[in-house]
Amino acid sequence: MNDLLQTIEPVTLMGPGPSCVPDSVLKALSMPTLGHLDPDFIRIMDAIKQQLRTLLHTRNTLTLPISGTGSAGMECCFVNLIEKDDPVLILINGVFGRRMQDVATRLGADVDTLEFDWGMPVIADVVQKQLSKKSYKLVAVVHAETSTGVMNPVSGIGSLLRGKDTLFLVDAVTSFGGMEILMDDWGIDVLYSGTQKCLSCPPGLSPVSFSPAAAAALQARKTKVPNWYLDLSLIMSYWEGATRAYHHTAPVNMLYGLYQALSLILAEGEAPVFERHMETHRLLVRELDQLGMRMHVDASCRLPMLNAVSIPDGVNDAEIRSRLLREYRIEIGAGLGPLAGKIWRIGLMGHTARPENVEKLIQALKAVLPPLKDH
Ligand SMILES: Cc1ncc(COP(=O)(O)O)c(C=O)c1O
Repeated sequence: MNDLLQTIEPVTLMGPGPSCVPDSVLKALSMPTLGHLDPDFIRIMDAIKQQLRTLLHTRNTLTLPISGTGSAGMECCFVNLIEKDDPVLILINGVFGRRMQDVATRLGADVDTLEFDWGMPVIADVVQKQLSKKSYKLVAVVHAETSTGVMNPVSGIGSLLRGKDTLFLVDAVTSFGGMEILMDDWGIDVLYSGTQKCLSCPPGLSPVSFSPAAAAALQARKTKVPNWYLDLSLIMSYWEGATRAYHHTAPVNMLYGLYQALSLILAEGEAPVFERHMETHRLLVRELDQLGMRMHVDASCRLPMLNAVSIPDGVNDAEIRSRLLREYRIEIGAGLGPLAGKIWRIGLMGHTARPENVEKLIQALKAVLPPLKDH
């Protein structure tokens, strides 16, 4: 092995992603590379599509992993569905809602936004009011806003759109694999995720799913999808049908990794996986409270897999994070945008969501934090 690789020492990844990767997923990544049209590999591709459908609770045929990280999934969903001047509503309460606004704007959509406080959830009544004023081709929201640790009311927003001719797009990058997603029951038409969060696979793939209504909207486009690499109508010919046509060379070994990661979740069982995330989150909140630290987000809308913790007064944000990494090999995340310097983001995603990791972090925090005032 090359000397630079030999110097890598494992880190307990407790930030906003990537999360810790199980050994069997790392092993899957190092299995012999097959050709991207090898029948044995196509069997794995088909199995992944089925695993994704099972875990998303959807019957959508058009469900597959895009080559690229979560942002590629985001671009893929917008670029396939949006044409110039299409009316789009984006619900924003953090960095990733903003990113959706940027992506939709670049495509020339007629973008309206509803902005909510960072650290607070999207309010369905406000969305309802806007929907009564204007009709949209697409409404988009982030399920688990990784920049703030807030869970948005996806099923409630889906109910507002039921019976309307509006596509409902959900960013499930951080939620997928860590909490329930009932894609069909919640009326979600378009969804994208990423591998490096609660799926506990390294970054590099983005599962996406399109409902029949979303697939029909793609078919009905007046103009060509303006991005060749992410054009689902072309990608489909590689992922579907009895004979497969080359589009781009699939990241074969990454797909082995995803297959193994999804297999682990299915073997453990969805309910136990979600319960493990919730239990580990509760343990972290209790332990942080005993240290005198407060959660930034109200308990009613806190994410179990992304814990935003207020940085206590007088504590040096960068120094503590750097000591945790250097001295304890633990990574936690900094705040983003207006929350930079104000919060830490502690990830309990996928394989990381285990009590022993919480204990390890708490012991390390006890060692590096100055004495905190009683609360
Ligand atoms: C909610 C959310 N959406 C989108 C993204 C973008 O994903 P990536 O960084 O994998 O491109 C992230 C990444 O953290 C995210 O948390």
